[in-house]
Amino acid sequence: MSLKSVIRTAVFPVAGRGTRFLPATKASPKEMLPVVDKPLIQYAVEEALAAGATRLVFITGASKRAIEDHFDSDQELEHMLERQGKSDLLNQIRSVLPSYAACIFIRQPAPLGLGHAVLCAQPAVGSEPFFVHLADDLIRSDVPCLKQMAEVYAAKRASVLGVEVVPRRETDKYGIVEVEAERSATSRVRSIVEKPKPAVAPSTLAVVGRYVLTPSIFEHLEKIDRGAGGEIQLTDGIASLMQEEAVYAYRFTGKRYDCGSKLGYLQATVEYALGHPQLGKDFRAYLQTLTRGGRRTARKSAKKRRSRR
Ligand code: UTP
Repeated sequence: MSLKSVIRTAVFPVAGRGTRFLPATKASPKEMLPVVDKPLIQYAVEEALAAGATRLVFITGASKRAIEDHFDSDQELEHMLERQGKSDLLNQIRSVLPSYAACIFIRQPAPLGLGHAVLCAQPAVGSEPFFVHLADDLIRSDVPCLKQMAEVYAAKRASVLGVEVVPRRETDKYGIVEVEAERSATSRVRSIVEKPKPAVAPSTLAVVGRYVLTPSIFEHLEKIDRGAGGEIQLTDGIASLMQEEAVYAYRFTGKRYDCGSKLGYLQATVEYALGHPQLGKDFRAYLQTLTRGGRRTARKSAKKRRSRR
């Protein structure tokens, strides 16, 4: 990748209220929910760093102080771990954020929508392409998803949307794109629509929480009106951008977990725990005791039913 194509800035909109996860998200951000031993936002930052970002812009809102604290150094905790000789934990705490990365926190005055949150990042982004990463979409892959997308950006020099195929009944939860060549991993977007009803969705290719955007998006976000749900929608901004620039959809390689929903979060927790270098073996053995127990209970109730007949 040439130096010019490296994307330096990653924007993390974390100002949503996380209503699907209430009451857990009443006073603490959903991005701080841990998957095994790291909060979602740390997985997000690690992915962006792996893709070459060094400037991390967080768009925060009410009750988001914990995110700032997580990425701040904690001298008291570090001294305590040092005194106790807990060097492994100390290293983990110190590596939360490498010294070459800079964090910028911008407050979104009110949750006016994802498009508005992205617009709030403009002063920090300037006139360069940038990543947008939604931390509640956790993606497990050999090559980090944003890194895959940075490569597509380097080839196309245009905005790139991370997409995946979803069941048709779920199109009304996503921005849905219609592309020129649905079978290719990378294809130019013909149209994009926010949360269409399954019957009228132009395809089942859904935009998930990964974007590379050119800075022209800001002009478009400035001029669009409030859309679905009375919010300034990023989807509408992208639809407007497409009138002037090519936008590509990229079907990333990896598995996505919707950690903004309780079920998706539980699935991620189980699968990340199974793959955890220290915990995985014991956790698998534990799950097997549950499934064996489950099978035994099922067999017992079947026997009872038969004896009653
Ligand atoms: P969601 O649609 O998941 O909304 O936002 P939410 O409020 O976070 O969660 P629910 O649906 O109420 O459970 C998608 C992303 O956009 C950010 C959110 O933080 C999330 O990462 N967002 C949304 C903002 O930063 N500001 C907004 O005004 C709206």
